[in-house]
Amino acid sequence: MADTLTLFHLSDIHFGLEDRVALGAVSAAITRQQPAAVLITGDLTMRARRHEFAAARDWIGALKVPVTVEVGNHDMPYFNLFERFADPYRRFLEVQRLLEKQLTLPGISVVPLLTSVKAQWRWPWSEGRVSGRALAETLAAIDRVPKGSRVLVTAHHPLIERGPRGQLLTIGGTAAMAELAKRGVAAVLSGHVHDPFDLIAETANGPLRMIGAGTLSKRIRSTPASYNEITVTADAITVRVCNSAEVPTDQMQLDAVPKNALPPRQPGEPVAPIGAVPAVDPPTH
Ligand SMILES: [Fe+2]
Ligand SMILES: [Fe+2]
Repeated sequence: MADTLTLFHLSDIHFGLEDRVALGAVSAAITRQQPAAVLITGDLTMRARRHEFAAARDWIGALKVPVTVEVGNHDMPYFNLFERFADPYRRFLEVQRLLEKQLTLPGISVVPLLTSVKAQWRWPWSEGRVSGRALAETLAAIDRVPKGSRVLVTAHHPLIERGPRGQLLTIGGTAAMAELAKRGVAAVLSGHVHDPFDLIAETANGPLRMIGAGTLSKRIRSTPASYNEITVTADAITVRVCNSAEVPTDQMQLDAVPKNALPPRQPGEPVAPIGAVPAVDPPTH
């Protein structure tokens, strides 16, 4: 592989409520730095309206680098329940089909994992679920990755299954994390909670790195709008959280995975750890 490869990890742009100043900075950085790829982990839109997807398509289309995007819970019809049940991904797929579904780059491969569902036997439907079929598709794709290539899995929801008080978050997350750890996945990239993190979770099959990106929308939780610049070298994967407020990465990244994007966290409010510890390969800048 090339000595160093740069990836931009963006999430939760929420076109319709996007932060245009932050997005302008991202576009400029992509033009300047020419990352090998831009990985967007879901919630492209606010309410899956056609004009929101059109704005997403136009913005992504202007980036002259490979782009992948996962479907987020906000990317399925919200007001039109008939369409949500009959053809939930249609509007999203009109954008995704113009992009890469998965990527094979020098030394590293990007494989998607579906965590957003049109409905489920609990409320809210916005929470994540890894179905047996979705996991099987991802594992099969990982098994096809060229030997010697590290794997990054991209998903919308963090895979943590239980919150600090035992509340159910991503159904099927524990089993999925164990299977991904078993295959030696280098990291799972996710969004949804609108705050960044870089943690190691323990699974039944060993440790699994989980990298979360913040939001590029005005719907911020406890950190300013941001995205991750991921640097891949032969022996390390490092993450820098880029934000126009120039808050250092170690102050941007949470020490636990929040349970969701709302309500906004108050300054100083503690976040209960849920079995994850900071990455052993901490950011150096
Ligand atoms: Fe979101
Ligand atoms: Fe979400």
